[in-house]
Amino acid sequence: MQPLPGFRDFLPQDWARQNYIFEKWWEVARRYGFLQWEGPVLEPTEIYTKKSGPEIVGQLFNFTDKGEREVALRPELTPSLARVVAAHDREFKKPLKWFSIPHCFRYEKQQRGRLREHYQFNADIIGEASLDADVELIALCIDLLRAFGFSSKDVVVRVSDREFWIDFLRAQNLPEEKWQETLQIIDKSEREPREKTGAKLGPLAESVFKILDGKGSSEKLDRVLDGLSARGLADFAQIDLGIVRGLAYYTGVVFEAFDRAGKLRALAGGGRYDNLIHHLSDGAANHPAIGFAMGDVVLAELIDESPAAKAHLDKAVAAQRALDVYIVIAKEERRADALAQIQRLRDGGYRVDYPLAPAKVGKQFQIAEQLGARLAILFGDEWPQVAIKNLATGNQELVACDALLTRLESMARETGRPG
Ligand code: HAM
Repeated sequence: MQPLPGFRDFLPQDWARQNYIFEKWWEVARRYGFLQWEGPVLEPTEIYTKKSGPEIVGQLFNFTDKGEREVALRPELTPSLARVVAAHDREFKKPLKWFSIPHCFRYEKQQRGRLREHYQFNADIIGEASLDADVELIALCIDLLRAFGFSSKDVVVRVSDREFWIDFLRAQNLPEEKWQETLQIIDKSEREPREKTGAKLGPLAESVFKILDGKGSSEKLDRVLDGLSARGLADFAQIDLGIVRGLAYYTGVVFEAFDRAGKLRALAGGGRYDNLIHHLSDGAANHPAIGFAMGDVVLAELIDESPAAKAHLDKAVAAQRALDVYIVIAKEERRADALAQIQRLRDGGYRVDYPLAPAKVGKQFQIAEQLGARLAILFGDEWPQVAIKNLATGNQELVACDALLTRLESMARETGRPG
């Protein structure tokens, strides 16, 4: 029995990796003063069809529920955020700095870096129109990547501006109803042959290619880079007007993060969406907004490819797993005494495990090592003393059972580690 295509089982070692990723995301978002929120996994399909653009609508897991409602598993969080912000408009002073780690679902063709479910770190600033908010979010995106051990040699954030392209299309007298389609063509241009893009763009092709080849300039984007430069992060970013973003709701600065080698899909993407809240709330609320999301799938691929980042992850995963103490019950008549101590140790914050059923002493030591325990504590013939064995060094000492917790605490002071 396999999971559905594009869905994952997370065995404990896989979920330990997820925990590592989530913890880094939490840690950096909090450092930036973002507050966590969450929305529902299932939403009315309408919130996606209203504004997200054809790219995402074709990728919905949608169905009619038993109450005849058209619903969809969330493919992204931004429309939910716009809905929630509009619904609670008066409760919160702006700007809001909110983050979330939603599980998202997209009916996509499964391929490297793209699954049918993924977790996404989202960060958004609502109610701040100044370019400082754009810089703050791009800096957060960079710092998230730095937290995993990546340098500017490993990753780059490519920054662009949809407004630049809208001004360009307007200057070319392209009718407004064609803008979205043209932006999609430009967005895809990097992934398809020039002739194909050229044919789709028609008379616009030559001037678009000129811009894509680096002959466009933007004072706004220069200011974004200056802002990053002031934080010492400019090496991680570059202006690249080839980034347009597939989602239709973006209105200004847009950006995507990639591995420098260009081997993988985008690690993260986002931008300004100043009209979405107004649109989704039918005018009830109106706030400028900017945000981005970073997915777990491509990020994990890049971590696996980078020895330094992988070493950080492996160390953290081993630490998550490791037990402080494994209790070896050498004499079954000591089981009740052992359980009383196990409870005390666990109450004291130690990670403790023990054999649920009688087993040979040798087997119990073997399990202690397999579980990565630092200490084994033996309940047997020495009672009312117990033997504390350091499994790394083999050193052993006897201690009165009543003094066990105090001895572990003094050991922790000596070694700086629990036990
Ligand atoms: P997005 O570019 O569609 O943006 O997704 C953001 C990131 O999620 C991507 O860069 C990628 O890492 C990951 N991702 C997307 N789809 C998949 C998939 N099928 N499998 C694995 N990973 C995937 C958004 O979702 C916007 N709502 C971001 C945003 C937040 N804009 C403003 N606020």
